[in-house]
Amino acid sequence: MTPSPTFDFAAHLAAQPPATAHARTPALLVETERLVMRPWAPADARTLLAIRAAEQARLAPWIPWGKLIPTLDEQLAQILLWNQRFWSGSDLTYALFERDGAPVGAVGVHDRCGPHARELGYWLTRDGEGRGYMSEAVRAMTRLAFELYGLDRLEVHTDPANSRSRAIPERLGFTHELTLKRRVLDSDGQLADSVVYTLYHPDYLRLGLHTTPVLAVDALGRRLL
Ligand SMILES: CC(C)(COP(=O)(O)OP(=O)(O)OC[C@H]1O[C@@H](n2cnc3c(N)ncnc32)[C@H](O)[C@@H]1OP(=O)(O)O)[C@@H](O)C(=O)NCCC(=O)NCCS
Repeated sequence: MTPSPTFDFAAHLAAQPPATAHARTPALLVETERLVMRPWAPADARTLLAIRAAEQARLAPWIPWGKLIPTLDEQLAQILLWNQRFWSGSDLTYALFERDGAPVGAVGVHDRCGPHARELGYWLTRDGEGRGYMSEAVRAMTRLAFELYGLDRLEVHTDPANSRSRAIPERLGFTHELTLKRRVLDSDGQLADSVVYTLYHPDYLRLGLHTTPVLAVDALGRRLL
């Protein structure tokens, strides 16, 4: 990965206090070399809505909600619901920002695939695509999920035809476990197949993903990773 010419992430990390094992909230802020991740805030509703409208044609083939363009109030209500789930620790939905502040997508760690497991979901804007941002974010979320939630496995589910999405778990070393037939609804409400990629904890360690440089802090600014 090419280091950012304007930001020295290694020095930034080295300047942080060591991670603590205190009682803590979910990670409110997660940083990687080029990205800053935080939950969507109520005040982001307009921005998120504008992104969804602009990206609708790109997202609709691959994301069940991709076709839906909510009203502003519905978008606000959805963010508030994500925030509730975030603080309860059940679904961590993060907006992804470049270091200069522009939102480029989102990544989520969801509690919807069984015990001791989480599922990753993600999307990028057209401007954010093709720059390695999602692989960088997913690497960070992989570490966060295993380290903070004591998982046995992490999964990615995607459409078999979604080659850009499939490339992300494949790049990180997840195993293609199976393809489920007619198992999910697509954005047209039609039954669709779903590929399942899994990363088990021993493989997370074997692949060295536990050494990914990530800064994660809780709501009081205490370092978690
Ligand atoms: C799926 C999706 C997030 C993948 O985005 P992506 O940009 O291909 O993935 P990454 O951000 O990891 O970038 C990887 C690409 O950036 C390139 N790249 C450029 N600069 C890079 C850098 N500095 N570091 C790493 N990769 C870099 C890589 O070569 C790769 O391109 P390639 O596939 O042409 O070889 C995006 O296509 C998307 O949002 N699709 C619509 C929604 C969707 O399908 N979501 C998933 C539903 S399961």
